[in-house]
Order: sequence, then structure tokens, then C-alpha cells
Amino acid sequence: MDVKTIMVVGAGQMGSGIAQVCAVSGYDVYLHDISQTQIDKGLAHIEKLLSRQVEKGKMTDAEKAAALSRLIPSTNLQNAAKVDLVIEAVVENMDVKTKLFAELDQIAPPHTILATNTSSLPITEIAAATKRPEKVIGMHFMNPVPVMKLVEIIRGLATADEVYETIEAITRKLNKVPVEVNDFPGFISNRVLMPMINEAIYALYEGVATKEAIDEVMKLGMNHPMGPLTLADFIGLDTCLYIMETLHEGFGDDKYRPCPLLRKYVKAGWLGRKTGRGFYTYE
Ligand code: CAA
Repeated sequence: MDVKTIMVVGAGQMGSGIAQVCAVSGYDVYLHDISQTQIDKGLAHIEKLLSRQVEKGKMTDAEKAAALSRLIPSTNLQNAAKVDLVIEAVVENMDVKTKLFAELDQIAPPHTILATNTSSLPITEIAAATKRPEKVIGMHFMNPVPVMKLVEIIRGLATADEVYETIEAITRKLNKVPVEVNDFPGFISNRVLMPMINEAIYALYEGVATKEAIDEVMKLGMNHPMGPLTLADFIGLDTCLYIMETLHEGFGDDKYRPCPLLRKYVKAGWLGRKTGRGFYTYE
């Protein structure tokens, strides 16, 4: 299947990162959001990151200009009629996603693949909101998207082999490494990562060590680039809680119970870096 034009829905941190790597790899990209302010913010961030690449000599000015010219801002979902692939990166909420997929299914041409960047929600259930479940697939990028090599590719129950192969080839064209995973809560990445983060929060909650000590142990002892509490702040504590709840509900096993301290921080609005305060404070 030939993919030339992509629409990324959601111009937040993940969506703008995905749009950036797609544009740099030569795709024409509609960066869609309901908020023009969010699109402007996303495009400004992309511009800044590409300028940094030019300063470091990793990209020429002409390559940067070409990538930016391939990005088309969009606040009209009807633009999905012009694309071969949609990558959805909106809020992690099943109602929002199923409504969006049903709408995209109406607008996009029959050949268009509908991919979701969900970090833990079932692909099969999202696919069921459309009349083309064979063309729905999970394409889970990691944060920060321009840096992280992995894309988890998740087949729903009905995903066609041809669709999987197309997404795998696009992932390689984006200079990322595809890894195939089946449709279970949290896939592999968050099924393994989030319980570790949750356990680190329990260790803090129970007074086993300070937040700095917990992070230091995992950084220096296990060679993780960031300690788990720093990483939780980076991902967003609301996202961490949401994923833990998805695991807890999906498996029905108490080992995935979110730590009460995590719930408390989210209730306080201390969501990590994006709100200036989480386990740590940020400027
Ligand atoms: N966006 C884009 N690029 C970024 C970036 C960002 N937010 N932060 C850093 N970079 C780039 C830098 O520009 C630099 O690029 P060059 O090599 O081209 O110069 C490179 O990344 C390294 O950056 P730094 O030297 O400044 O910092 P670092 O070596 O400490 O790396 C990091 C920063 C890559 C974020 C590193 O700390 C890291 O890998 N952290 C862990 C990230 C992680 O685990 N992500 C997965 C989260 S889970 C997830 O995403 C899934 C989910 O569903 C929740």
C-alpha cells in the first residue's frame, strides 16, 4: 500500500513529535487539532527542534525548510479525505477515541489506514467503532518521539496482514525500529514500565528512601537514563495513573493497583513537568 500523505490528529507533545519525524522522512503531513493555539505551539516546537539539528550540523537549512514546508496545519477534520494514513494522538480516553475513529471512518477514503498512538487502550475496541477494522492498527511511539527508536506495532483482532506490513515499512522509513506486539492491556512497553514506576512511587510512599535516592539507585544501579520518578514527571502523572488503571481493570489483578500517592498527586494537579510540579518542581 502506497502512503504519501499522513494526517496526525492531536498536536500535543506526542502528535507534534510524530508529525515532525513523518515530515522529516518525506511525507506530506496534516497536523490536525481542534485548537489552533495547540497547532501553533506544536509547529513552533518542531521548528525549534529542527533548528537545533541544523546548529548541530545534523541537518542542513534546506532540509529543515523542506520538512517544515511539508507540514500543513489543519483544524478541519475533512482534510482526512486527502490522506492515506491517519495517526491519532489525542487524549487517552476511549469515548473520545471511538467517536473520532467513527468520524474518520466516514471521511477518509476506503484505502486509508487508521492508526492510533494509544499507550494502553485496546486496538480491537477502537477498531470496532469503524466499518474498516482490518485497516485499524496501533502505532505506539515513545516520548520524546524524535529521539526514541522504538515503535510498538499492535494488531487488533481484525488487522489485515497487508496493513501491518505497510505500517512496519513506514516505521522503518521513519528511521525507527518496529516491534510487533499483541493486543493486551499496556502492550509490552507500559505493562513492564508502569508497574516499575508505580513500585517506585510505593517506595516513596512507604518512606523506603527519598525521591532522589530512588532515582539515583535506578539511574546508577540499572543504567536507566532517568530515574523512575523523574520519568513519571516526564511522561505525566495523569498518564501514568490512567495506564495503571487500564492495567488494573484489564487484568483484574491487584498487583497493578495504582499507588495512593500517585492518585493524590494527580488530584492536586501535580502532573509533572507539564504543570511545573510533580515529584520534582520545574521552572
Ligand atoms: N524532544 C526532542 N529531542 C530531545 C528531547 C525532547 N524532549 N530531549 C532531548 N532531546 C534530544 C537532544 O536534542 C539530543 O539530541 P542530539 O543527540 O541530536 O544532540 C538527545 O535527545 C540527547 O539529549 P540530552 O543530551 O539533552 O539529554 P539526555 O542524554 O539526558 O537524553 C532523553 C534525554 C533522551 C530524554 C533521555 O533522558 C531518555 O532517554 N530518557 C528516558 C525516556 C523514556 O524512557 N521514554 C519513554 C517514556 S514511556 C513512553 O513514551 C510510552 C508511554 O506510553 C508512556
